[in-house]
Amino acid sequence: MINMKMDEEFSQASEIYRENILDHYKHPRNFGEIKNPDIKQRELNPLCGDEIEFFMKVGEKNVIDDVKFKGHGCAIGQASASLLSEMIKGKSLEEVENITNEKVIEQLGIHIGPVRFKCAILSLMTVKAGIEKYKKSLSKNGGN
Ligand code: FES
Repeated sequence: MINMKMDEEFSQASEIYRENILDHYKHPRNFGEIKNPDIKQRELNPLCGDEIEFFMKVGEKNVIDDVKFKGHGCAIGQASASLLSEMIKGKSLEEVENITNEKVIEQLGIHIGPVRFKCAILSLMTVKAGIEKYKKSLSKNGGN
């Protein structure tokens, strides 16, 4: 596992963003598990072996009523999961599908180089893969 807490990109970030990332890392929002979720998806960062798993409850009008995540990773990986969970709660599946990698990186507020890119976007990839699977299962079952 790469210890990146104080790596170069991180130390170059402005203090306010660094503090925000560390706050999300130490006190992740929506951390945990949902019983009987509509969407459950786990993905692995092959570069470091860290894993992240998202759980979502989908309500009326395809809105994400609840979201939780668990897993482990570096500060950027965990902070982006925590930030993303806040971003997607209350949003429709379509709105979430339209969230770009750039948007997540913008929320982190620091420069993300190629080494950290996967850490930063793993959560978004996980959420999108989960939504895709969910939609496929609905269409297979003749759902909406
Ligand atoms: Fe594993 Fe960043 S080093 S998620």
